[in-house]
Amino acid sequence: MRESLETIAKRLNRGEVAAVPTETVYGLAASLRFPQAIEQIYLLKKRPANNPLIIHIASREDLPPASNLDALIEAFWPGPLTLVLPNDTISEKARAGLPTAAFRMPAHPLTRALIQLTGPLVMPSANLSGKPSATTPEHVEEDFGSDFPILDGGPVTHGVESTILCFAQKWKIIRQGAISQEAFLPVLHYLPEIELPGNKPLCPGQLYRHYAPKATLIPTCSPPSACTLVGYSDRTYDSCRIYSLGPSNHPETIAQNLYTTLRQLDQDNIHEAYIDIDLPQIGLYRTILERLYKACTKT
Ligand code: TXA
Ligand code: MG
Repeated sequence: MRESLETIAKRLNRGEVAAVPTETVYGLAASLRFPQAIEQIYLLKKRPANNPLIIHIASREDLPPASNLDALIEAFWPGPLTLVLPNDTISEKARAGLPTAAFRMPAHPLTRALIQLTGPLVMPSANLSGKPSATTPEHVEEDFGSDFPILDGGPVTHGVESTILCFAQKWKIIRQGAISQEAFLPVLHYLPEIELPGNKPLCPGQLYRHYAPKATLIPTCSPPSACTLVGYSDRTYDSCRIYSLGPSNHPETIAQNLYTTLRQLDQDNIHEAYIDIDLPQIGLYRTILERLYKACTKT
């Protein structure tokens, strides 16, 4: 159910939950002031209780005092950067009990206008836990039904989530996202390390299955003939049924198409598909490859 900015703000200001566009993906929003609304988000998404939420703010005043952030904030806010900072005062439900909290200042004009009316909003991606994220209002409806309140911003710009940084002696990328590792070099004067998957990741969300359609997905650099294939519009494949991510030399377009394409496999009841992962491990491609590999993982 598409609703106006004012109606969505009213809902959030009385402790309800609604879907909201951002420049990365759609979010499932609740006001930071309503612990029961935050709880509702976990229930709606079927999200594990130990997976914390990002707090979305519209101005620097909403950020608790912290040092060392000026250069990053100047370069990347508003935008698809999330910063994990020491914090034990903000809503425990949003932090999932951790001694840190994640903050992001979104760039989307509708999100910013909304936060002006509501104050800080917690927002995980607006998808059922484990499924591909939502990049259009239609995706939100697929997961939460046509009666779910949505602020319609059309398709999003980036199509992959924010990059999450955490400080541990140096800044580290704990979730890859719309800002590439290389983009931090001129700002930090070093390349922030990308945390590799492990048993106790700094980003709890990395523990869980993500971005996966129902189909079994097989990563490959040389697809067999006559298969169902997630591939690229500028490559030729031998009599395959193609789900195109766009041109292989345009990572921004691939990112925009990524979740729509994965969701389309479910819409078409595909049981098995190959994914062409022959892409370079640089820039935004690295984020795309990480998402594609995750989509292939069943656990
Ligand atoms: O682009 C985005 O970041 C989108 C839009 C809606 O803003 N949001 C998003 O939220 O991707 P979500 O909940 O799907 O992913 C947030 C990730 C989770 O993996 C979670 O574990 C991590 O952020 N996170 C949140 N708070 C954290 C904290 N205090 N420490 C470490 N990781 C944290
Ligand atoms: Mg998510």
